[in-house]
Amino acid sequence: MNYNLSTENIKKWETLKSSFKKFSSLTKGEGKRLLISVIAIVTNSLSTLSSPILLAYAIDNYIRTKDFNWILLFSVFLFLIYIVESTATYVQTKTMWEIWINILFRLRNRIFTKLQELPVTFFNQNKTWDLISRINSDTEKLNMFFSEALTQFIWNISLITWTWIFILAINFRLWIVTLLPALVIFIITHLISPWVKRRNLESLQSLWAMSSEIQESLNNFKVMVAYNRLDYFKEKFKKFNLRNYKAFIKAWIANNIFTPIYWFAANIAQLLTLSFWIYLIMNWNFTLWLLIWFQFYINFFYNSLREMAELWSLFQLASASLDRISEVISMESDMKIVPQEDSKETVSIIEFENVVFRYPETSEILKGVSFSLQKGMTYALVGPTGGWKTTTASLMARLYDPMDWKVYLDWKDIRSYTEAERANKIWFILQEPFLFSWNIKENILYWNSQFENYSNEDLLKELENKGLADLLVKFNDWLETEVTWGISLGQKQIIAFMRAILKNPELLILDEATANIDTITEHLLEDILKKLPENTTKVIIAHRFNTIKNADLIFFVNSWAIIQTWSMQDALEMLQHWVREG
Ligand SMILES: Nc1ncnc2c1ncn2[C@@H]1O[C@H](COP(=O)(O)OP(=O)(O)OP(=O)(O)O)[C@@H](O)[C@H]1O
Ligand SMILES: [Mg+2]
Repeated sequence: MNYNLSTENIKKWETLKSSFKKFSSLTKGEGKRLLISVIAIVTNSLSTLSSPILLAYAIDNYIRTKDFNWILLFSVFLFLIYIVESTATYVQTKTMWEIWINILFRLRNRIFTKLQELPVTFFNQNKTWDLISRINSDTEKLNMFFSEALTQFIWNISLITWTWIFILAINFRLWIVTLLPALVIFIITHLISPWVKRRNLESLQSLWAMSSEIQESLNNFKVMVAYNRLDYFKEKFKKFNLRNYKAFIKAWIANNIFTPIYWFAANIAQLLTLSFWIYLIMNWNFTLWLLIWFQFYINFFYNSLREMAELWSLFQLASASLDRISEVISMESDMKIVPQEDSKETVSIIEFENVVFRYPETSEILKGVSFSLQKGMTYALVGPTGGWKTTTASLMARLYDPMDWKVYLDWKDIRSYTEAERANKIWFILQEPFLFSWNIKENILYWNSQFENYSNEDLLKELENKGLADLLVKFNDWLETEVTWGISLGQKQIIAFMRAILKNPELLILDEATANIDTITEHLLEDILKKLPENTTKVIIAHRFNTIKNADLIFFVNSWAIIQTWSMQDALEMLQHWVREG
């Protein structure tokens, strides 16, 4: 399956309907609050709009006739309406605020949970910075829209709908005349919104591409400064910056296109209304209160529409951000846990049956590999650089699923184990050790339920039992040493090694795990490995033949097959032959 986010998201031209749908799907679980806020908004806009009717009616009927009783009654009524209006405003703001706070909280959790469910391929195909930006910046863009514009947005939509109904109630012909421009606005908005959103998406995309570029350059900055190759960095950065600049300008133009259109239509509408007024006046076909009402509603209607122009572009930006977030959320891992169908009677801990594998978007392929590893044995995988050793080991740990045929772990289909079950059986020391910026104790106890509550003293005793305590002399503060940037690659490998031994897995895979460790310490690690329980299977991947001298069996790995060799000399000859013949 292709998990590449950057190619997928821009090609879609979503309609307004599906954008609204996506936004409304966020409000799941907020039904009660949403109902309250909708009632508050409707009440609020109704009272805002009804007070001028009452005022106009009072002027027309009672102020002219000086009927003070009615004037008093109307004043009290108006006062009550103002109280309702302010209460509704308060309720509306409060509930909307609660809704978006909850939505954002849930959304960030959902993305992060989703990231944890996705397979390694997803992380191979996407840059870290792009993912970080989706969790942080895109949700922040939504936050901006929710906190600054959403209430205003819904409030305006509500006002526009009500004035639309009120104007219709007053005079049908006027309704037609004044609303024709609004209809044009609606159609134009509908047509150009997807285009505006696309521009915003492209701008966001290029911004994150530039951020990734900066991150990558900064990682290599030391080398670039040392070799005075800043010109290279400058050129590359300039290219990304220029792309970002162009995308930003395009998005800016697109976002600002609504304002002139809305304002132009509003002015035309006012011109049309004015002409109609002249026509009505000429025919003496109006009353004073009708004139006041009408003018008031027309102003209300078009002022709200003008405001909507700006809010609409914010909505498009938020919608583009939501698209980027939804893209991650809608990704489904294709590495599901499958029900156990068949099992194999075997003494092997792992068995490959004609396994075929290829990385997404590449053409090279690992073809039909079969082999099995017996419990308690030590195996070595040797082979040329780029010769599929790490990939084969990754398939053993189900970091990827083969395209064809099966891998069996302890006689069951490896896909039928849960992640936790698999992690208890297999542990993997990667070519590039993964550590957290915690101290050594926390790092070595990562995902280790057996020792997680051990005190330093108890843990030290355990490390001594396993022969690991001697390795701690390499760290100034022993278990408390913080793992920061000031730690060597070899030291990192030692920490990863200690973590793996403490896990006590049934199958331990060491992928170039001691490549950066001095020979004396490497001997120490070999002794520690010998102390592991008898039925522990070890797979050692190494280029240095010295590292694999204790292996019971050596496999030569290449893209065509995994071949069992008979001795180190045999393996070395195969390697020489392979490298020479290409
Ligand atoms: N994440 C990936 N995406 C695409 N192709 C990959 C990926 N990782 C490895 N490859 C390709 O798969 C092939 C096998 O790579 P692999 O890392 O398994 O080799 P290796 O034997 O471990 O090499 P080395 O001795 O350098 O560690 C190579 O052609 C490599 O370019
Ligand atoms: Mg490798």
